[in-house]
Amino acid sequence: MKMKSKIIFKNQKSQGTIQSPIRLLIVIIFSILVSDMLVWIFIKFLPPLTVWGELLVDSILILIILSPILYSFAFRPLTANIGERKRAEDALLLEKDNFRHSLDDSPLGVRIATIEGNTLYANNTLLNFYGYDSLGELQKTPLKNRYTPESYVQAQKRKRQREHGDLSATGYEISIVRKDGEIRHLQVFRKEVLWDGVRQFQVICNDITGRKQAEEEIIKSKKLVEDLHKHLTEIRENERALISREIHDQIGQSLTALKLDLNWMYKYVGTNPEAVMKLDNMIELISNTIKDVQRISSDLRPGILDDLGLAAAIEWYSGEFEERTGIKCRLRLDDSIFGDSQKNLVFFRVLQEALTNVIRHANASIVNIKLHQSKQGSTLTIKDNGIGMHLEKVESGNPLGLIGTRERIRQVGGTLYISSGIGQGTKLTIFIPSK
Ligand SMILES: Nc1ncnc2c1ncn2[C@@H]1O[C@H](COP(=O)(O)OP(=O)(O)OP(=O)(O)O)[C@@H](O)[C@H]1O
Ligand SMILES: [Mg+2]
Repeated sequence: MKMKSKIIFKNQKSQGTIQSPIRLLIVIIFSILVSDMLVWIFIKFLPPLTVWGELLVDSILILIILSPILYSFAFRPLTANIGERKRAEDALLLEKDNFRHSLDDSPLGVRIATIEGNTLYANNTLLNFYGYDSLGELQKTPLKNRYTPESYVQAQKRKRQREHGDLSATGYEISIVRKDGEIRHLQVFRKEVLWDGVRQFQVICNDITGRKQAEEEIIKSKKLVEDLHKHLTEIRENERALISREIHDQIGQSLTALKLDLNWMYKYVGTNPEAVMKLDNMIELISNTIKDVQRISSDLRPGILDDLGLAAAIEWYSGEFEERTGIKCRLRLDDSIFGDSQKNLVFFRVLQEALTNVIRHANASIVNIKLHQSKQGSTLTIKDNGIGMHLEKVESGNPLGLIGTRERIRQVGGTLYISSGIGQGTKLTIFIPSK
């Protein structure tokens, strides 16, 4: 938007005036000399006069000649200059007045302070931030009572910096204590200004209490969601372990006992081919069911993970995966012992989710799985040669599987890095630090 501005005062160079006093002096001396010469010539043409008469004529004539010269070169410019200066002063006063009015009416809090931090001026908005009725009230309330203890310590630090000539702190946040005890948060911008001709500091404050509270709420609810996710994961893992044990111990053992009993029955069915065939089928069905039960139980909570460690569990799981899907798994596993069972479980669950994604989305024929353990931590990489994905698109669509995976890794202090592109396969790199 174009603003129309009105010129209140324009400082023009006075026309026809002699600005320099030296030049003015030269003009006056020159005028006196010339007029004196003219008068002297004029007197020569007059009949002889007495000394007093000559002096009188001389003075009158010089005055007559000099008066207009002095008026136009000295008196007129001088009065013009005085007028101009007066107008300039008036304009400056008006400007200062306008500036102060604009500060008074500003929706931002404004304070003018000395280098020591004493307040010279405060607008209404700033007084309202504090809940004070007057500038005097603000001035007589010590800083210690106006700021929270943390903000007071910071303010003292900035004051020391200023006193040592360091004016680098120009933008910061403070927390103030209002007259009624309420705490408010202000964003502050400070800069040096001239105030009544002296260098002072202009402090502009914006009330960000609402924003701060919203930020705190977001942080709180984020923490709540994280805690909830952690809690649910723990519950799910515990339940999985329990169900896995129940299936394995109860159903698995019952089925094994049933299989033994069926084997025992061979003795009594004799040579009846129909009965033998039925028995064969029953035993085969039970054997397959025992295998299914073992697989389901291991999927729920692989005992191998706790008994033989991460590398063995990865080997077992990828073997099963290969058998089930026909997708080749190439392993490079560093099987030095990696003690933390919680972290091992995270790695294992991430592998399960990643391989499930490979079956569901990748259309891959090979998966490379690498486990590297070092002093700093462990790194698991799972790379398929499938169709890949447009990572930004996937991330913007709130992918719950990947979000859950990332969150699980984050809970043990680890990181997940995904690299993928259309036609380039997908690579997941998971790093979990040792401590
Ligand atoms: N290995 C992969 N190759 C190609 N695309 C993949 C791969 N892994 C994930 N994706 C893409 O990323 C998306 C998100 O994966 P994510 O695991 O979060 O969700 P999902 O597998 O679709 O569902 P779920 O929540 O059951 O896991 C998938 O829908 C798929 O488009
Ligand atoms: Mg998934």
